[in-house]
Amino acid sequence: MSRKQNIIASAIKAKIIDQDLTAVGVMDLDALKKTVDDVYQAFPANFFHTFAVKANALVQVLSSLRESGMGAEVASPGELMIARAAGYNTADIIFDSPAKTVQDLRTCIENDISINIDNLQELARVDRLIRDFPDTKSVIGFRVNPQIGAGKIGSTSTATATSKFGYALVDGDNRQRLIEIYQARPWLKSIHTHTGSQGCELTLMANGVKIITELAEEINEFIGSQQVTRLDIGGGLPVNFSSDEIKPSFKDYAEVLKAEVPLLFTDKYQVKTEFGRAIVAKNGVIITRVEYTKNSGGRHIATTHAGAQILTRTAFLPKSWPIRVTGYTARGEEKTEKNSEVVTTDVAGPCCFAGDLICVEQSLPKLEANDYVMVHDTGGYYFTNHFDYNSLPRVAIYTISGADDDLTIDCIRAAQSLESVLNNM
Ligand SMILES: Cc1ncc(COP(=O)(O)O)c(C=O)c1O
Repeated sequence: MSRKQNIIASAIKAKIIDQDLTAVGVMDLDALKKTVDDVYQAFPANFFHTFAVKANALVQVLSSLRESGMGAEVASPGELMIARAAGYNTADIIFDSPAKTVQDLRTCIENDISINIDNLQELARVDRLIRDFPDTKSVIGFRVNPQIGAGKIGSTSTATATSKFGYALVDGDNRQRLIEIYQARPWLKSIHTHTGSQGCELTLMANGVKIITELAEEINEFIGSQQVTRLDIGGGLPVNFSSDEIKPSFKDYAEVLKAEVPLLFTDKYQVKTEFGRAIVAKNGVIITRVEYTKNSGGRHIATTHAGAQILTRTAFLPKSWPIRVTGYTARGEEKTEKNSEVVTTDVAGPCCFAGDLICVEQSLPKLEANDYVMVHDTGGYYFTNHFDYNSLPRVAIYTISGADDDLTIDCIRAAQSLESVLNNM
């Protein structure tokens, strides 16, 4: 029996899935450990790997990654709190967000959490905080946008000329300006780039890394000593969603990087990575149940309970985020072309809009009511992400009523503190 069939069989045995199931997410912690081993084996000892918490902000998953030796890259105060709850030391956390508040920056600098500065206004805030905490052990650097173009998915491409992320290196005299910024601030010891996520070619990612490595060399030469000691090369390794094959692998990426930027593979710099999707996607699945089936216009339609609420990217951008499903009978047997007729199928979610579909026009062994559907490769950015910026849902909601010049605002859901949301999870 395959690992995935075993997961279904165990879930049935443990009564986690039965005729009352709507949808569950399952993370395979053993497979996760193996993935982390693969990362460490692919790169030499001067590489330190952090996990991009936005990809899967579950305390248990983060604890397991920490035990396997990873640090944490967080992009919001909520993610920071979740990483702390999972036991990460502040020295092993880096905070990357394009919208850090003064309080976020203070928390990081006061507690020795590393940061990547996004822009010059943020630099001015950090300048002031460094005066308050001159002995901070935060490793501080700039996030640089090398402006080298997009990959196949616009919404995950972060190195376009007009990207919202980082300091635009190629505009005007920005490069020289940045070199002088580093010269004036001996506490700037790192440079960061993240070229983009899913849809970016390895060569595009490696090109971004090459640009920041050359920049670090130029800064150090200008200053006359090795002030920049850390290169933060981001995450972004794409995931193959079309089969179980892991392609590209961490080893493939290491080989491309080694060919393009050999300096990374010497001990000159500490190199930090921030992989998210490639660590978790293939180690998680959603299991849902077929509630009903029907035939409409010649199409077999299977309505399940997994849709836009947990498969947000796929529901809204199906061409960019196609995803695979496998059917199982209520007894847990895999549905194959040998035991079922193959029909053209749409697998639908439960939400009340037409685009709420997991997959469209797929040739699948015929799904029946009460079958289970496994949605593959959903361990990152799917069932763990409801797209709240903090990964903790706590949005306050108000009503407004009355005449324009005499409006009444009433709170129908109060803002909760991050602590209270985390404690009640
Ligand atoms: C700064 C930064 N680092 C790392 C990641 C993780 O990317 P991925 O999950 O594609 O590896 C992201 C994703 O948005 C990011 O913005």
